[in-house]
Amino acid sequence: MLDLPATPILQADVDRLEAVKGLARARLDRDLGWAHYRLELGFDRDTLQGTRPPGCWCLGLGGRTETALTIFNPDAGSSYLVPVWRERCPHCPEGQAAETLYQQTLRQSVASVTAQRLKRVFGQPSLREYQDATLDTLEVLPENQLSLHGLQDWLITQSTDGAYIYGLVGTGKTHLAVALLRARVAAGDYGLFLSESAYLQAVRDTYQDDGHRTAEVQHAAWSVPFLVLDDVGAELLTPWAETQVRALLTARLTGQLPTLMTSNYDPLALRDVREERIVSRVLGLAADGAHVYPWLGPDRRERRL
Ligand SMILES: Nc1ncnc2c1ncn2[C@@H]1O[C@H](COP(=O)(O)OP(=O)(O)O)[C@@H](O)[C@H]1O
Ligand SMILES: [Mg+2]
Ligand SMILES: [Zn+2]
Repeated sequence: MLDLPATPILQADVDRLEAVKGLARARLDRDLGWAHYRLELGFDRDTLQGTRPPGCWCLGLGGRTETALTIFNPDAGSSYLVPVWRERCPHCPEGQAAETLYQQTLRQSVASVTAQRLKRVFGQPSLREYQDATLDTLEVLPENQLSLHGLQDWLITQSTDGAYIYGLVGTGKTHLAVALLRARVAAGDYGLFLSESAYLQAVRDTYQDDGHRTAEVQHAAWSVPFLVLDDVGAELLTPWAETQVRALLTARLTGQLPTLMTSNYDPLALRDVREERIVSRVLGLAADGAHVYPWLGPDRRERRL
C-alpha cells in the first residue's frame, strides 16, 4: 500500500524550505498534511486518482506549482503574500475553488498595487466625497441616459480611446468619472485619479526636491494604464503649466493610453481657456471627438445646502 517514499519527498521540502523560507512554509505544511493523509488512510496515488473526477490531475489539491501574489496595504505601508497555484485544475471542484481564490486574490493584488502607487506618488487623494460612487448606485437623469449608454459601451470595449465629459458645476461629472474609474480598476486596470490642478501642484511640489521626483510624478501620470483627469480647464494656466498639461496629454496620446477627462467646458468653449494645441490633444484623446459626452442636471451641491 505505502508505495510512496515519504522520506525523500519530505527531505526535498525541507531543502526547499531552506531555499525560499516564508513561501515554502505553506507548501511544506500542505505536503506534510498530504503525506499524513495517505499514511492514515493507507491510500496510494492510483487508488486516490480513481476517486477523482475524469481529467482531474490535482489529486484534490486544486492545482500545482505554488506561487504567491502580493497584497499591499498602503495605509500600513506593508504587504503580505497569499499562496496560490500557478496552474489550477479545471476538472474538479477543488480546482474551481482554487481558480476563484486565484481570481479574487489577483484582483485584490492589482487593486492594492494601484492604491499603493496612488498613495505613494500623489498622497491620499481627496476622493472621500466620492467613495460611494459606483455605476450600480449612480442616479441617472433621463436626459443623461444617452451619455451613460455611450460611456458604458466605451467602458466595456476597454479600448485605448479616452473620453470627455462636460457639464456645469455640480451635475455629477466627477462622481461619474470615479464610478467609471472604479469599474476599470475592478476589471483589472491600473488607474489613477487626478484633477488637472492637483497634477500641476504635484509637479510643482517636486521642484523643491531633485529632478528625480519630478520625473517620477510625471511618469506616473504619463504612463498609468488608465487616467482620470478631472476638471480640465478649471483654472488659468501660466505658460509653464500649459507646457506641463500639454506634455501629459501628448504622452497619453502617443502611448495610446485611455484618459477620461471631465470639464465645465464643451470642447469648443475649451478654446477660450486653453491653447489650441491642448484642445486638439483633448479631442484626440476622446477619439477625435467621438467620445465627447454632455452631463446635464441641476447643481447637486446647491440643492443640498
Ligand atoms: N449620480 C449621483 N448619485 C449620487 N450622488 C451624486 C451623483 N452625482 C453627483 N453626486 C454627488 O453630488 C455632488 C456633486 O457632484 P460632482 O461629481 O462633484 O459634480 P461635478 O464634478 O459635476 O461638479 C458630489 O457630492 C457627488 O458625490
Ligand atoms: Mg468635479
Ligand atoms: Zn483536480
